Amino acid sequence: MIGCRGSSKSRLQLAGVVVCLVLGGLVSGCVDEKVVFRDRDPLEGVPAEAGGFLGYQAGKEADKATICGNCHTEVQAEWKQTKHAVAMQDLKANPGASAVCEGCHSVNERGNDVAAGQKAGHDQVAVARFEDVQCESCHGPGANHVQAPNRTNIPTPTAMTALDRGCGECHNGTHHPFVEEWAQSAHGAVPDLDHTKDNPSCQPCHTGQGALVAFGVSGARIQEAGATDMPITCIVCHDPHSAKNQGQLRFAIDNPSVEGNLCMKCHHKRGQPDLTSQSRGVHSPEGPLLTGEAGWIPPGMSTEKITGTHSSEKNPRLCAGCHVTTLAVTDSKGVVIQNATGHLFNAIPCLDSKGVPTVGDCELTQRSFKACTASGCHGSETAARSAMITAETRLQTLAAQLNAMLDKVPATEFAQDSRYTVAEGARFNASFMDDAHARGSAVHNPFLVEALLTASIKAVQTTYGVQAAPGLNLNNVLRAR
Ligand code: HEC
Ligand code: HEC
Ligand code: HEC
Ligand code: HEC
Ligand code: HEC
Ligand code: HEC
Ligand code: HEC
Ligand code: HEC
Repeated sequence: MIGCRGSSKSRLQLAGVVVCLVLGGLVSGCVDEKVVFRDRDPLEGVPAEAGGFLGYQAGKEADKATICGNCHTEVQAEWKQTKHAVAMQDLKANPGASAVCEGCHSVNERGNDVAAGQKAGHDQVAVARFEDVQCESCHGPGANHVQAPNRTNIPTPTAMTALDRGCGECHNGTHHPFVEEWAQSAHGAVPDLDHTKDNPSCQPCHTGQGALVAFGVSGARIQEAGATDMPITCIVCHDPHSAKNQGQLRFAIDNPSVEGNLCMKCHHKRGQPDLTSQSRGVHSPEGPLLTGEAGWIPPGMSTEKITGTHSSEKNPRLCAGCHVTTLAVTDSKGVVIQNATGHLFNAIPCLDSKGVPTVGDCELTQRSFKACTASGCHGSETAARSAMITAETRLQTLAAQLNAMLDKVPATEFAQDSRYTVAEGARFNASFMDDAHARGSAVHNPFLVEALLTASIKAVQTTYGVQAAPGLNLNNVLRAR
């Protein structure tokens, strides 16, 4: 334990793990948190009309030294590497810059819980200390906390993601409609509480809070929020403070392992049979499919790993290479009317009448296959579309055959007892082509799924004497191309 002694106005602590803060006679106590020191009144020079916002330390604007960072030194060091810390200088370097632009490039009521309609920070006093997207942009005004930090006055960031709160209050509009797109996506949907509320095992993937806890995030807001109704919000995927990964992501998108890849952290529930589970079909198998580790391996099938071009160095961004692609939507004269941010997470979205990606349901022929051509992988959208249709048709034929054969196998073979039968394994493999996953399986790893289906058909023939339709090609034609 380290103590704080002395009652002079404040104590300079250049090293050590102590907060010693004595302000205006108010002893706020000692905390063995992180390296912390203070050498003068934090409120010195703070404009009264700023509504409790503090911003940068007076005279230290160029160093990006926030008042919060005076004590929270680790977060300060991380945040300083992010784009948020240079938001105003990037704006000013832009020829289109004007005063109306500054609201989202500075500290003010946007992004936090300041009451609606109330102007504060840079919107009241446009001085250098309130430039850039600083701590208080997300956490809200810190004057009360800084004078006597304790559990009751913590500036908690809003976990909400909406046009009037949190990240979305700045990340919106035709230039960068992140929140508008995200809100329409499956990640933006409030989790279906029927299957997650009373089942903690589902929450690490299906709720925002559950995911943050699983990722080791322990901020006050998250702990206090016992509720399980938070969608997969921005801060589940993005680290608000750290630029250690590209795009300020919590985990890399180019990591080809199920354990390390941001998307695969959740998209990997059941790619292989799980005998302890009541439901026996596949469940978010995209990660294992892409890495070639999915499926039940029938007797006689080679266990050699089958990965496709979609998980090779030709597509280094892996899941995001197809599902998070940006696009500038132009009018007939080539003028940009809107950017698309890829935050619908839809690889082949439908387009509205202006050419803007939407979540609507439409025919494959009306879908945009631009993600497939953007990286130079496929020569044209038409080529990519037809490759997918070919694969889907082939795999659906095989799965339909396999399911028809399995219908002739005695029900006792599906008893879900301690014996895992060929029939159960084959049914599992056929589930890659169930409605929910048909298209995904035809694209995430068509070669592997084809090999699994053909080998399953052969195994069912051998084991139960049920024959496939005459003429069915049991060679792996997709792989052979
Ligand atoms: C004078 C030092 C000091 C300053 C300046 C300061 N804090 Fe703190 N902060 C603390 C201490 C000490 C705690 C721990 C309080 C407790 O647990 O009782 C804390 C706790 C927090 C927490 C909760 C951390 C957790 O693990 O739950 C947040 C969030 C936070 N501060 C944000 C800020 C922000 C934003 C600013 C700037 C507006 C700021 N702090 C400025 C000392 C400071
Ligand atoms: C609604 C909030 C908002 C307003 C208003 C706003 N911006 Fe931004 N600006 C953002 C966000 C959010 C980003 C980050 C977008 C991204 O990473 O895709 C950004 C990024 C930028 C960048 C950095 C882009 C880069 O990659 O270098 C520049 C420059 C910029 N804005 C200029 C402007 C100008 C000029 C205006 C006024 C005409 C303006 N902004 C108004 C929110 C806003
Ligand atoms: C872009 C928004 C944003 C900015 C900018 C930001 N924070 Fe945070 N901060 C959050 C969110 C959201 C959380 C809760 C989730 C988490 O911890 O990742 C959080 C959590 C925290 C915590 C508690 C958890 C922890 O990591 O210990 C502290 C302390 C904190 N922030 C301090 C700061 C300080 C200091 C700065 C500025 C140097 C800052 N934040 C800048 C959004 C932000
Ligand atoms: C006050 C407005 C504001 C708020 C609130 C805000 N941002 Fe930003 N954000 C910006 C601006 C402006 C930029 C562009 C900075 C630049 O490029 O100069 C930006 C850039 C980014 C980038 C791009 C980083 C990069 O490496 O290019 C990410 C990611 C991001 N923000 C995520 C978030 C998340 C997540 C939150 C909520 C926790 C958030 N932002 C809250 C205004 C904001
Ligand atoms: C499911 C995960 C996920 C969620 C949820 C998510 N994003 Fe992203 N975001 C990504 C990925 C992946 C990228 C692409 C990063 C790259 O290619 O480097 C990205 C890119 C970005 C960028 C551009 C970064 C850059 O380098 O230019 C911004 C800004 C951003 N997201 C903001 C947001 C905001 C705001 C929200 C919430 C409304 C949000 N994101 C929700 C995964 C996510
Ligand atoms: C925290 C866990 C988590 C992370 C991280 C995550 N997802 Fe998801 N994703 C989900 C859940 C849960 C759903 C299903 C939501 C629902 O339908 O209720 C989903 C749905 C989707 C869907 C829509 C599926 C459909 O049937 O409409 C796509 C596409 C998707 N995710 C892609 C991605 C990509 C790409 C990434 C990485 C950039 C990613 N996800 C990261 C949990 C996650
Ligand atoms: C390891 C992460 C993970 C766990 C744990 C998990 N899921 Fe999922 N689940 C996902 C992802 C990701 C999706 C969306 C992608 C897909 O459908 O392929 C999904 C999709 C679903 C869907 C279909 C989409 C929807 O929301 O209608 C249901 C239903 C579902 N999960 C129920 C559950 C239940 C119930 C549990 C707990 C018993 C659970 N999941 C546990 C990751 C997980
Ligand atoms: C080569 C491009 C590509 C890659 C790489 C890719 N996907 Fe997909 N994904 C697609 C296409 C195309 C669809 C079909 C979309 C549709 O029907 O709307 C799809 C469908 C999906 C679906 C919904 C259908 C289903 O199978 O349940 C989810 C969820 C999904 N992908 C997640 C992921 C994740 C997670 C990764 C990384 C492990 C990934 N995808 C990698 C192109 C890709």
